[in-house]
Amino acid sequence: MCGIVGYIGKRDVAPLLLEGLQRLEYRGYDSAGLVITGPRGGGLRMVKAKGRVRDLEARVPKRFAGTTGIAHTRWATHGAPSDENAHPHLSTGGEVAVVHNGIIDNAAELRARLEAEGVVFASETDTEVLTHLIARSAAETLEEKVRHALKVVEGTYGIAVMHADFNDRIVVARNGSPVVLGIGEKEMFVASDVAALVAHTRQIVTLDDGEMATLKADDFRTYTTEGSTTTATPTTVEWEAESYDMGGHDTYMHKEICEQPDAVDRVLRGRIDDRFSTVHLGGLNLDAREARSIRRVKILGCGTSYHAGLIGAGLIESLARIPADAEPASEFRYRNPVVDPDTLYVAVSQSGETYDVLAAVQELKRKGARVLGVVNVVGSAIAREADGGTYVHAGPEVCVVSTKCFTNTVVAFALLALHLGRVRDLSVAEGKRIIEGLRRLPEQITEILQAEDDIKKLAEEYAGAQSMMFIGRVRGYPVALEASLKLKEISYIHAEAYPASELKHGPLALIEPALPTVAIVPDDDLLEKNRAALEEIKARSGRILAVAHREQEKADHTIVVPKNENELDPILMGIPLQLFAYHTALAMGRDIDKPRNLAKSVTVE
Ligand code: F6R
Repeated sequence: MCGIVGYIGKRDVAPLLLEGLQRLEYRGYDSAGLVITGPRGGGLRMVKAKGRVRDLEARVPKRFAGTTGIAHTRWATHGAPSDENAHPHLSTGGEVAVVHNGIIDNAAELRARLEAEGVVFASETDTEVLTHLIARSAAETLEEKVRHALKVVEGTYGIAVMHADFNDRIVVARNGSPVVLGIGEKEMFVASDVAALVAHTRQIVTLDDGEMATLKADDFRTYTTEGSTTTATPTTVEWEAESYDMGGHDTYMHKEICEQPDAVDRVLRGRIDDRFSTVHLGGLNLDAREARSIRRVKILGCGTSYHAGLIGAGLIESLARIPADAEPASEFRYRNPVVDPDTLYVAVSQSGETYDVLAAVQELKRKGARVLGVVNVVGSAIAREADGGTYVHAGPEVCVVSTKCFTNTVVAFALLALHLGRVRDLSVAEGKRIIEGLRRLPEQITEILQAEDDIKKLAEEYAGAQSMMFIGRVRGYPVALEASLKLKEISYIHAEAYPASELKHGPLALIEPALPTVAIVPDDDLLEKNRAALEEIKARSGRILAVAHREQEKADHTIVVPKNENELDPILMGIPLQLFAYHTALAMGRDIDKPRNLAKSVTVE
């Protein structure tokens, strides 16, 4: 949510910043801006624009030379999207520039105080407060000025700061919003996300909360906000620069949907031991005795990750026979939950940065709970905060809406459930059954993807609907929830998901020919019950699109998917509905990768 990129070195900085912003645009796309300076000083020069990075690019003058700069792409929190509210923010004299991700909670109070002292604000943002505080600090060095300012602000931040009088450096700081340094040869980068760095360097340093850094062209140092030096050893980013490209697809979403066979293969690779039908998840930090003593599992995540967690809870309950449930992390952290020492808490997040999930993890740890992370981005805040966990190895997910990461997260949960099951009471034969099912997934996903043309035709037929209902039962219900979220996010068609069993307790009143229902109808022990729900809808002249293992007589259309083990069927049943949402949105001319009002990685509350 919001993207920061910065550079100091010898290269022409404006094109580098614009390219970095393009790569970060999925984190926010309300407005963008940059500020630069040359090696011989001459003051800070800034360009900002409401809209996309391409709108900013159009405003950058032809002669705009400089070798140091910081830039930002914004997802509005305080103040509407506008030129004025776009970052960077300059101090009154124009000597300090700040880009900021996060929220300053006490901005209103600080603003009032500064205004009383005569400061005139140029924007409605919380960030501008920081700019003036830094500019007004009497400290001698830029590092100290920034430290002084940070002492009085409350809230979250990832910031990059430039000062016209200290033009040999960029100072950055982190508290709750990611900041990553990219270490080059006589050049340094900073960004809120490695996506903006990997084209230039794969050597990175991830700052911790409470940490700051000074970047000079040929050197960097890290220290705490209190001023004590910290040690930062660069690590190598695992993902290649090409994994961030569109790879010949028209959209990232399409690319990411199509990558799923390989992504699933990756999350399984090297983790299965066929001799004992067991699973190795090296990073769990949970020995067999501890695994056997777990009395409950509680999974916490937001949005799509929460939906993956719901399926994960079902897998843990059925394979490991441990009571398990999932809850939105955003709700959990505010209801003063009872934290039970015998419960294993699992935080699930693609980005590993979602603030609500991170805050839930911190609260749980403060109360002594054991928390595992199921995370995609290696080294992200949640991965580092958790006591152990597993990576889902989906590769970078750039589209704002999550697809391949959902699938890989569910597969990672299947591995976790299998692991817990096998150290508890799941038999070798049952373990083998699930392992064989997992191994079939990549090929079966490929088979589903091959039906894209047919799914596209169906999507075009349903694209005119004002609203859609999604239903599923037990294992099928989280699939319905996720499919309805995908559709509403990118097509803006109103969609809601209900357990099929709940239809007659209210939502049946909505059924009429203009409201299509998408029904998840697996061939399992609940098949007849699901068919009864289809009958009820048909009796009210409702249109039905079924996702099933065989043609459904009561449905107007059926998307037939390959059958796996009952427990693993939800993984496959979700995939055609990703394509369905995609082609519905495409038929409606939507901006697939950047849906309105949204941004990837929600690092604010
Ligand atoms: C939906 C979507 C969001 C995220 C949610 C959590 O397509 O992408 O609902 O799933 O914001 O994000 P992560 O998984 O990064 O914690």
